[in-house]
Amino acid sequence: MEKIIRSAARLSGAVTLPGDKSISHRYAILSSLAEGTSRLANYSSGADCHSTLNCLRDLGVGIEADGSTVTVHGKGLDGWTVPSRDLDAGNSGSAMRMLAGALAPQPFASRLVGDESLSGRPMGRIIEPLTAMGATIRARDGRFPPLEIEGKPLQAIDYTLPVASAQVKTCVLLAGLFCEGETVVREPIRTRDHTEVALTQFGAYVTVNKRVITLEGRPMLLARDLLIPSDLSSAAFFLVAASIVPGSSLLLRGVGLNPTRSALLDFLLSAGASIRIVNFEHTAGEPSGDLQVSYSAFQGGVIEGDVAAALIDEIPVLAILGAVSEHGLVVRDAKELRVKETDRIKTVLDNLRRMGVEAEELPDGMKIPGKQQFRGARVDSFGDHRIAMAFAVAGLVSDGETVIENAEAASVSFPEFYDLLDQASSA
Ligand code: S3P
Repeated sequence: MEKIIRSAARLSGAVTLPGDKSISHRYAILSSLAEGTSRLANYSSGADCHSTLNCLRDLGVGIEADGSTVTVHGKGLDGWTVPSRDLDAGNSGSAMRMLAGALAPQPFASRLVGDESLSGRPMGRIIEPLTAMGATIRARDGRFPPLEIEGKPLQAIDYTLPVASAQVKTCVLLAGLFCEGETVVREPIRTRDHTEVALTQFGAYVTVNKRVITLEGRPMLLARDLLIPSDLSSAAFFLVAASIVPGSSLLLRGVGLNPTRSALLDFLLSAGASIRIVNFEHTAGEPSGDLQVSYSAFQGGVIEGDVAAALIDEIPVLAILGAVSEHGLVVRDAKELRVKETDRIKTVLDNLRRMGVEAEELPDGMKIPGKQQFRGARVDSFGDHRIAMAFAVAGLVSDGETVIENAEAASVSFPEFYDLLDQASSA
């Protein structure tokens, strides 16, 4: 599908975004392993989180989806059953890496597959700790999907993550649920802590001491009714859009504000954004609030070190902001961008250049000078949801029309994106 984006006079009104993708995956998996029926409200509408639900269905879990409310009939820690076909994680690295953790200790074999993009993403980072726990996993060239998991009892581990990755942390902790004794995960820097929060919500015993997470194995998980806040990483597209289109003022409702995710707000505020948090709430360990964002002049900035890891999903849209800012944007220490749904350093730069914006590729990031004007052009999502949405935002401040090729990629995390953008924008 092609989507045409025209320059917008302003963004206004109020929008409600879909549920957080990271939290949706975790609540779905944990509720399937819990005793009893969980109701998950505002579950992500993205295809990724529905891939997780479909894999769980293939593992014998009863799941009904009614709009954004998902009901999961948990089967208990030992209740998953042999899947009769390959488990398809689609485009989702989270689904594959997290499910692998809970599949490796099962008393049956399984095979996890994904689409072309996922089939090229590194899985060595989960195969290594799971193998150290006693798992047997075969992968293409030893490190790419499909993953053939033998399924056998595992031993708890004390594991230091070589890469800062919440997906890998989650994989090891989910495997640890099935092991006797304590599983310990040590992080090089603190990554999003939704797994630790969710495990506690479902009744597991988890302690967090700075960057060391300890989980007591073999808990009895209990069903919960939980409301999932809206996704801050999806909100990022609207936060940037309203910040760069003159005259905008937009309210984003019920957005997740977990402190391990909110580096985005700190960065935007430090670069000159006008964002106010209203109606702050703290339910079930996951804080949320409404965000009122208005147009403001941006200074630009540098994203590096721990901040680069914390902002990794938002860098494509921050690149758009950087190009129109006063001093531009420099991104370093972000080589993980190269192994996301696409090599996001290459795909961001390719599209920027198509739109007449200058940028320099760095091995681990990019340099984008400020005060540039976007020119309407044909850009490509390259099948990557965040690239599609970032360049739709660029289209709002371009001279002339922007055509996004393969625009449907947005539905991986945010199927409502173009409709909400059209609703909020005035021509
Ligand atoms: C995620 C963790 C991050 C992030 C991804 C979602 C998660 O990936 O980029 O979109 O839900 O745990 P890594 O764990 O690879 O850093």
